[in-house]
Amino acid sequence: MLADDQDIIMPSNFAWGAATSAYQIEGGWDADGRGPSIWDTFCHKKGKVFQDQSGDVACDSYHLWEEDLKCIQQLGLTHYRLSLSWSRLLPDGTTRRINQKGVSYYNRVINDLLANGVSPMVTLHHFDLPQALQAQGGWQSPQIADLFDSYAQFCFQTFGDRVKLWLTINEPYIYAKFGHEDGCHAPGLDQPGVSLYLAGHNMLRAHARAWHSYDALYRPTQGGQVSLALFSDWAEAHDPSSALDVAAAERYMAFVLGWFAWPIFVNGDYPPEMKARVEAASRAQGLPSSRLPTFSKEEPRILGTADFFALNYYTSRRVWPGSGPAKIGFEGDLEVERDIDPAWPVCGNSWLAVFPEGLRKLLKYIKDKFGNPTVYITENGFSQVGPVEIEDARRCRFFRDTLLQVSKAIHEEGADVRGYFAWSLLDNFEWADGYRVRFGLYHVDFAHPRLKRTPYRSGREYAQLIAQNKTSARS
Ligand code: GAL
Repeated sequence: MLADDQDIIMPSNFAWGAATSAYQIEGGWDADGRGPSIWDTFCHKKGKVFQDQSGDVACDSYHLWEEDLKCIQQLGLTHYRLSLSWSRLLPDGTTRRINQKGVSYYNRVINDLLANGVSPMVTLHHFDLPQALQAQGGWQSPQIADLFDSYAQFCFQTFGDRVKLWLTINEPYIYAKFGHEDGCHAPGLDQPGVSLYLAGHNMLRAHARAWHSYDALYRPTQGGQVSLALFSDWAEAHDPSSALDVAAAERYMAFVLGWFAWPIFVNGDYPPEMKARVEAASRAQGLPSSRLPTFSKEEPRILGTADFFALNYYTSRRVWPGSGPAKIGFEGDLEVERDIDPAWPVCGNSWLAVFPEGLRKLLKYIKDKFGNPTVYITENGFSQVGPVEIEDARRCRFFRDTLLQVSKAIHEEGADVRGYFAWSLLDNFEWADGYRVRFGLYHVDFAHPRLKRTPYRSGREYAQLIAQNKTSARS
């Protein structure tokens, strides 16, 4: 262990976790009655994903769960974040038909985790909408909020006696923007400036309904907590002495994190600057009203519908105000240019510039803006591309530097961080990048008949760090 590991001191009962998601690891895409999801459809079209790869088999965790469990045991995790495949449980997305084999699979996973002293954190929905619901308009249809609520209640009823940490939806920002504007993720829509805001709005409505259902009907007996996983970069002013750059950084944070965090943690509505800018841009386009929907007074309230703050953080950007002709769409509404500080090393894929201090600053921002919530860092990681490096010294350094910043956020900034989930337990299907990009603490040999899992050095060091922290928390 390096000397600076001594400075990584987490509170007792800190959640030491790793995260995965159903479509990225399970495979078994048509096994035992699973219905198709939008990611099956997207991957099965030519030219959407790197080398037309898919999650058809992935890590085959549907059949090889016990191999994943061994990794979890070896790491000494206290928590494991997984997601449920909606269409494995409810093949057409509705409770009209329940796939008992899907229920048995997740029961086994949850029971094995608990038998090994590992608490599950369960995401209800991580990008993989049942295709049958996409055919009815998907996240653009207002009905999706009730359908999601039924699905969520089915999960609370079925698994909530044992699952105490729930996330409704993973990264509504990425899901709405990549899936409903940029078109690089399923469902692959690209209607600038309209469908992403509608999808995001319905995700917030769906989340709030599920939270209210849990609060009223399940919390009294099950006693768990419900939130949603919010993605955010950290944005810095390119020139900190420029008021315009400082304002651009605030705006970037409002559009990326604030889009979902403001309604839930601040005032039940979108950030004022986001509302004003989308409204003005919509009027300038000759539209009768803003492309950003409004929350109706009849809706269940959105404010306060999170029992903790779940943050997925990967990278940071330097920003300044946009110039040039305003594009129609999210980027045109935001009007912020960005780059990467040359001092931040880029790891694996080009978007991931490593800036652990960004996480500490973001945790302080969350503390100050959103009323010092309890925070779980539900994703954070470092990717590899190219030749496999089992002795991944750079990723080892990354985890130490990052956890040191988390420790400082707790002890020096007073952020109430209760847990950290590394992305990811395993190398897996990295969406449009396929298997080219590897985020695992465990390497997966996708050519091996049993998809052999081998710990990277970073996995072994993460295990050591967890063991050391458990010991110091006891002493
Ligand atoms: C997140 C996503 C994960 C994972 C990660 C790494 O946006 O929730 O599923 O793919 O990015 O890119």
